[in-house]
Amino acid sequence: MPKSATGADQDSGAPDGRQVLVFALNGAEVRLSLDPHGGVGGGDVPDLRPTTMLLDYLREGRGLTGTKEGCNEGDCGACTVLVTDADGTRPLNACLLFLPQLHGKAVRTVEGLSAPDGRLHPVQAAMVEHHGSQCGYCTPGFVVSMAASQLAGATDHDDRLAGNLCRCTGYGPIVRAARAVEGVAVPDWMAERLPGSGAPPFAPESADELADWYLANPDATLIAGATDVGLWVTKALMDLPKVAFLHACRDLQTIERTATGLRVGAGVTIAGLRAAVAKSHPALAELLRRFASEQVRGAATIGGNIANGSPIGDGAPALIAMGATLHLRRGAARREMPLEDFFLDYKKQDRAPGEFVEALTFPAATPGLQCHKLSKRFDQDISAVCGCFNITREGGRVTGARIAFGGMAGTPKRARAVEAALLGKDWTEATIRAAILAFGKDFAPLTDMRASSAYRLTAAENMLWRLWHRSQGAATSVLEVRA
Ligand SMILES: Cc1cc2nc3c(=O)[nH]c(=O)nc-3n(C[C@H](O)[C@H](O)[C@H](O)COP(=O)(O)OP(=O)(O)OC[C@H]3O[C@@H](n4cnc5c(N)ncnc54)[C@H](O)[C@@H]3O)c2cc1C
Ligand code: FES
Ligand code: FES
Repeated sequence: MPKSATGADQDSGAPDGRQVLVFALNGAEVRLSLDPHGGVGGGDVPDLRPTTMLLDYLREGRGLTGTKEGCNEGDCGACTVLVTDADGTRPLNACLLFLPQLHGKAVRTVEGLSAPDGRLHPVQAAMVEHHGSQCGYCTPGFVVSMAASQLAGATDHDDRLAGNLCRCTGYGPIVRAARAVEGVAVPDWMAERLPGSGAPPFAPESADELADWYLANPDATLIAGATDVGLWVTKALMDLPKVAFLHACRDLQTIERTATGLRVGAGVTIAGLRAAVAKSHPALAELLRRFASEQVRGAATIGGNIANGSPIGDGAPALIAMGATLHLRRGAARREMPLEDFFLDYKKQDRAPGEFVEALTFPAATPGLQCHKLSKRFDQDISAVCGCFNITREGGRVTGARIAFGGMAGTPKRARAVEAALLGKDWTEATIRAAILAFGKDFAPLTDMRASSAYRLTAAENMLWRLWHRSQGAATSVLEVRA
């Protein structure tokens, strides 16, 4: 990490610990000085730090109050902005974006959607036409998300808009407005020019740089997509005195085919992973469709999803069932382990100070994989129970069984007793009944606000029932009812 650009200055506490952030905001270049110790910022907002949120900067620093604060935790989409970089344009939540994550990028807020002469963007005009707005609080977020869909030529509006909540309209008029602009030309004023930027602030530019710096600064907080860490700041009001952002480590963002399967860098976003595995691992891709929202998937990384050690994360159960290997790095030293061994206990992972997640590897295809996410809402919700079953059969006999759950213990966990009850047995109803009795040996789930212990256990057992019935040709989808 260049000394001028990040951590060494954070260590020294030197007055020149400030670092420069450059990005474009609604077409105009912005240059800000960020101070890891707080203090007066780039002339716009007092106290611009590496952990200042874009939403606060927009509203308090720039008076761009069209970007709304609803939940301030990634749930409502009222703060959605467009962020463009070399990979394209994504809708992201400004309440979960730290300023340094914008370096070299272009941000467009709702104020930048209409033409300089005041003409409405087609999605704005369509919202008027189709009565897509009532109280209007959610509307800026919706139109920004819809503009992103229009740019991408996307028509899966239910998925694309799942991260935008509206309490008034019932969504029908909004979805009709989104459909109305399908195929309509994107206005030329939406073209972005990325600013020339220089070294990214508080961000190493390669895995090697990160490894050296983190070894010397093991007390620092790593920030990848910030969809977890952001909440530590906005909700837990934590002060993060020393941080390193990972978004500039492009070599952590690759997906490679290897002799044995796929190697996915820790910095690959959930959206990127979903797209990459759509054909090879459709069950994983479908699970990831239900991971949070378009805005969160575009920022959240698979490395962050694993490193946070959450017992209710969706990545771990699927990847454990797939037989994934976790690759860790500390300085020049690398080690690997089966993913399930990483999770030692609630909030305790097998990761040493200064060690970070570099990648995950898993087989090129897992045709037996089926994943079931049970949450209170279908969209944009954390799992109460997430069950992933990778069962292979030959000649009516179970030849492979890797089953993993989230939400059933203090860590993501394999159902080893259930696996043992299936492995080598004939695939019959009697085998399934016997295996279901084994769930109680594997799990004694907690009761919390998402579900009771008994509900979780029954739900997990029923997921295996569902698998059985599906294998017998029964229709098991409960999503066929459509308004
Ligand atoms: C509204 C909302 C909905 C959500 N829905 C879901 C959901 O449906 N399913 C789900 O599983 N999760 C969900 N999450 C949680 C979150 O989005 C994921 O856990 C996400 O994958 C975290 O990745 P990140 O890159 O944002 O991590 P960050 O927030 O940047 O980091 C998370 C943790 O991992 C550490 N870290 C990050 N990268 C590395 C690395 N390479 N090596 C070592 N440590 C690292 C950080 O220091 C931190 O401790 C949701 C979050 C929000 C806000
Ligand atoms: S304010 Fe609700 S998602 Fe940002
Ligand atoms: S129009 Fe009122 S919240 Fe959507």
